[in-house]
Amino acid sequence: MHMYPHNVWYVAALAREISATPLARRILGERLVLFRTASGNPVALADRCPHRQLPLSRGRVLGEHIQCGYHGAQFDAAGRCRLVPGQSEIPDHAAVRSCPVRERHGFIWIWMGDADLAAAADPAPICSFLDRGNWGTLDAYIHIACNYELINDNLADITHTEFVHPTTLGNESMRAARGELAPESSSIPRFEANLVDGGMNFRLSLTGTRPAPSFENAYRRVRGLKAGLALDFQLEFSFRAPAFWLFSPTAMKSGTPAAEGVSTSGLILITPEDRTSSHYFHKICQSYAPEVEAETRYWLDETCRAFDEDKVVLEAQQRNLECDAGDASAPVSFRGDWMGFQVRKLVRAMLAAESGQPRLLESGAAR
Ligand code: FES
Ligand SMILES: [Fe+2]
Repeated sequence: MHMYPHNVWYVAALAREISATPLARRILGERLVLFRTASGNPVALADRCPHRQLPLSRGRVLGEHIQCGYHGAQFDAAGRCRLVPGQSEIPDHAAVRSCPVRERHGFIWIWMGDADLAAAADPAPICSFLDRGNWGTLDAYIHIACNYELINDNLADITHTEFVHPTTLGNESMRAARGELAPESSSIPRFEANLVDGGMNFRLSLTGTRPAPSFENAYRRVRGLKAGLALDFQLEFSFRAPAFWLFSPTAMKSGTPAAEGVSTSGLILITPEDRTSSHYFHKICQSYAPEVEAETRYWLDETCRAFDEDKVVLEAQQRNLECDAGDASAPVSFRGDWMGFQVRKLVRAMLAAESGQPRLLESGAAR
């Protein structure tokens, strides 16, 4: 079975990362060069000149071409060699792989699988909410040295937030995701999870509680909150295989509608770099004060702090998994892991659906 699904649009880069300066990035184990031509089009080519294998990312963009930094051969956006300095004929096989790319919602999306299937697939269904309403958005990129499925486990399990993010996104109220009352909670937690085509939707509702610090502080600042007053808290998230997440938390005064609360939406879009490392793209979106950049910046800062805390945990986990590769002992499971199991099943189903395409097979196994 493949290590990661190929026939899906992944995020290759934040749109603002791509310019006339070539960017080297590995995606699904393949070395690519990403750049923007003079006409503004993003391009993704194999990062290896077919002449003497210098990475094309060591070259420079000239108009609609990229020029190799060794002997000056030029390649167009389709990967065809268009010019060899000092000779008029161009060898037939002088070409590099070109991957389909699209620019949408502030991301550069890339298709690493069967190119014939790319046109019919939607690059960013999980981002479609951005087409409706007015949003203030900011984005960021983190490199995390762990397998992408460890990140899925992390995002599917909000019970870790109490321990990893106690100053931002977590507190004991998140124990409700295990169906357990938090010590200070005054209500029965309600949660529901529904499998949908290619993913899962989840919703957690708490009444009369103390949301985690980032949410409580935001509500206090934006709507005003008397000390000690309880809030209602609602968390919705959507997962779409293989590794796309949309989180929408809302803090509101107890008994009032969510529209009167403070709500954000956070996209987390993971692209495997290889078996043991991942690209983590995230975008924070808020519509309660879309024109106030300080509000959007607040959420970006809070989430960046929290995700850096996740990075420390995830990379330490991966290192342990690597050095215990021969240890056959089965990991212990807790009740909070059940959503992670559902997510792994959805990814397995996607991988199984692709397993009939041997030319995409890679060696090794996902952890
Ligand atoms: S290595 Fe690229 S032109 Fe020679
Ligand atoms: Fe986390």
